[in-house]
Amino acid sequence: MDTLTLSLGFLSLFLFLFLLKRSTHKHSKLSHVPVVPGLPVIGNLLQLKEKKPHKTFTKMAQKYGPIFSIKAGSSKIIVLNTAHLAKEAMVTRYSSISKRKLSTALTILTSDKCMVAMSDYNDFHKMVKKHILASVLGANAQKRLRFHREVMMENMSSKFNEHVKTLSDSAVDFRKIFVSELFGLALKQALGSDIESIYVEGLTATLSREDLYNTLVVDFMEGAIEVDWRDFFPYLKWIPNKSFEKKIRRVDRQRKIIMKALINEQKKRLTSGKELDCYYDYLVSEAKEVTEEQMIMLLWEPIIETSDTTLVTTEWAMYELAKDKNRQDRLYEELLNVCGHEKVTDEELSKLPYLGAVFHETLRKHSPVPIVPLRYVDEDTELGGYHIPAGSEIAINIYGCNMDSNLWENPDQWIPERFLDEKYAQADLYKTMAFGGGKRVCAGSLQAMLIACTAIGRLVQEFEWELGHGEEENVDTMGLTTHRLHPLQVKLKPRNRIY
Ligand code: HEM
Repeated sequence: MDTLTLSLGFLSLFLFLFLLKRSTHKHSKLSHVPVVPGLPVIGNLLQLKEKKPHKTFTKMAQKYGPIFSIKAGSSKIIVLNTAHLAKEAMVTRYSSISKRKLSTALTILTSDKCMVAMSDYNDFHKMVKKHILASVLGANAQKRLRFHREVMMENMSSKFNEHVKTLSDSAVDFRKIFVSELFGLALKQALGSDIESIYVEGLTATLSREDLYNTLVVDFMEGAIEVDWRDFFPYLKWIPNKSFEKKIRRVDRQRKIIMKALINEQKKRLTSGKELDCYYDYLVSEAKEVTEEQMIMLLWEPIIETSDTTLVTTEWAMYELAKDKNRQDRLYEELLNVCGHEKVTDEELSKLPYLGAVFHETLRKHSPVPIVPLRYVDEDTELGGYHIPAGSEIAINIYGCNMDSNLWENPDQWIPERFLDEKYAQADLYKTMAFGGGKRVCAGSLQAMLIACTAIGRLVQEFEWELGHGEEENVDTMGLTTHRLHPLQVKLKPRNRIY
């Protein structure tokens, strides 16, 4: 080794040590995130017992500021409550906070992060996100799949009209009709066709469409919020929690058995030479690297995602419109001016700013994903000028961001007009934090907007909406997403126009 190489070697070592010291020094000079006082051992767990952490965090932010840390047993969770901090975590500091921290329930139910939305940011994530966008969720895919959405709107309209004809005086269960059509659409996108019933060999039973929905969607959503107390005390993992494990493993097993049966039907279809424009056919031809186990999860992912958050948004939008006759009239006038006697379709959406405002204001006030699934800090970093040590977990409180009174005037009121301001570009899907941001921004935002907006528009074109008895106060939520606890009950009066 010559002298020059040796000197260069020393110089690089010196530079490396200098930079390392500087970065450690820089972080150590930053102050620590404010701590919400809790109890020894359990930390702040008792304060979270209401099971609506987004609301608890928003209240805490009023006292402790927009960023604070809590302890859930032995885990330290840093909670972010403003759009500014959320963007810093999702965009600027993303490389240090790109891993997921999943509960035991979610680890089992996602087959250990085997889906786009729950994976870490790695090659698997990039590969499956590329596939889901190309086949189902990207702009071109949504154009190709438009036909299925149009059928959904027709079916939904017929069912509401049927109700009005036969039971005009009684309130209708909005969710029952909407979710059934939405689930049908999800099945068509994933598997090529809607399924009325299927014989599932692994269960030796014939399952109806409703059974499929309950197992693939409802059971998962319930299982996902099951708490294994050992998550908070990893040093007690050796103590068995049999009832928890039995329940979650059962949900996982049933879902996989059913998905396998659904996939087998598609295999038979392909063997018979019938190809369809759906995610299954796409994966078979374009994603040879995907294993059978992964195929189950990848196909199930758009089914659960289509069937849940879009329902939450549309149901809350119809609640707000049914409650607010003036705003409903304003939307109807806009639809009448732009569409005349034609049914609203994808094409008119860009010409309907008030409809867009109704959609965004609903996402803001009733953010369907109130807290982004927890992220994990894998190297020391900073947020909001505070030191964030490696090993912390990060909870981005989207609900809190969208309720921030420094950003939104009267945040707890539903005021679509706020989005008519020129500062919000009509085509911008990310006016609120509802779809997240940065590299992990929601891949299904376009689909959610297309379904929710055409459904809301069509339903207001056809009917006058009024809340059923006692519905105004019925605003409680439950679950991982902000589902209305009680399905929306509404009274419909046909507008008697021909569409
Ligand atoms: C109003 C409806 C929806 C809302 C509010 C919503 C919200 C979100 C949020 C907040 C994230 C970000 C999670 C993070 O940063 O870690 C996300 C990610 C995601 N969403 Fe949505 N979502 C909606 C509808 C949909 C639909 C309909 C689909 C698919 C059918 C979908 C598929 C996804 C996927 C695949 C990701 C993961 C993206 C990635 O990790 O790269 N979403 N969504």
